[in-house]
Amino acid sequence: MKKTILILLLTVVAIISTGLVMANGGEHLEKANVNVDDKASLQRGAKVFTDYCLSCHSAKYVRFNRVASDLGMTEKQVMKNLNHLGGKFGSTMTAVMTKEYAKQSFGAVPPDLSLVGRSRGVDWLYSYLKGFYADPSKFTGANNTVFRDVGMPNIFWKQEGIKKPVYEEINGEKEVVGTELVKQGTMTPEEFDNMVRDLVAFLSYIGEPNQSYRKSLGVYVLIFLVILFGFAYAMKKDYWKDVH
Ligand code: HEC
Repeated sequence: MKKTILILLLTVVAIISTGLVMANGGEHLEKANVNVDDKASLQRGAKVFTDYCLSCHSAKYVRFNRVASDLGMTEKQVMKNLNHLGGKFGSTMTAVMTKEYAKQSFGAVPPDLSLVGRSRGVDWLYSYLKGFYADPSKFTGANNTVFRDVGMPNIFWKQEGIKKPVYEEINGEKEVVGTELVKQGTMTPEEFDNMVRDLVAFLSYIGEPNQSYRKSLGVYVLIFLVILFGFAYAMKKDYWKDVH
């Protein structure tokens, strides 16, 4: 009996762990360490996002005025720094490029990024945005360590610099396991990491704009439950004192 339970337990652990490995593609992901409560970081991330990503991607569930109030920005700041297409303050973030044109140019339609923070997770996004390397065999001139043969060009090559792939032999096959900086770009690696971290924080925020509130609410609920437990326990003791 004991043996059967052990075997069952081991099977469950095996299934769960393969599920986890498959969920992140078995890749080694770097920790993003984002802080979605840091408004300054989110503001910087919003600027990078609207400057570099909205040309191809949309964020159709995100409104400029909501971003303004959540991130503590004025209408003027948002209209000047973030809203490059000049739409209304209450409009959503639309892409500059049409879907048809993007498909023709890159072979794949750039997906809407409103919810990508949730579907991919912050560590995947951080690793992806840092995972581009030079690959002359691709029509974009780039490939990616976590998204093989990606259709997206390396947007930040000027800032990050030129990187080459690092290979390792796995099961007799040459596989890309990382990258190496060959020529530094306009930013130091640390500056670049910080910029990507801000951008990923913003992507995480738009994926779930209420997450800061939800987390702080959770703490209050826990404090409330602890206090309630104290009262309930005192009451129980009082009720039962004559019975014992
Ligand atoms: C020149 C157009 C272009 C720009 C600019 C661009 N992307 Fe992309 N992106 C693409 C295309 C095309 C794909 C689809 C790739 C594929 O499926 O092969 C993509 C895919 C992605 C994905 C993968 C989505 C998924 O879950 O499969 C993410 C994340 C992403 N882009 C983030 C960004 C961010 C963040 C920026 C701004 C720094 C950005 N992109 C700028 C064209 C672009």
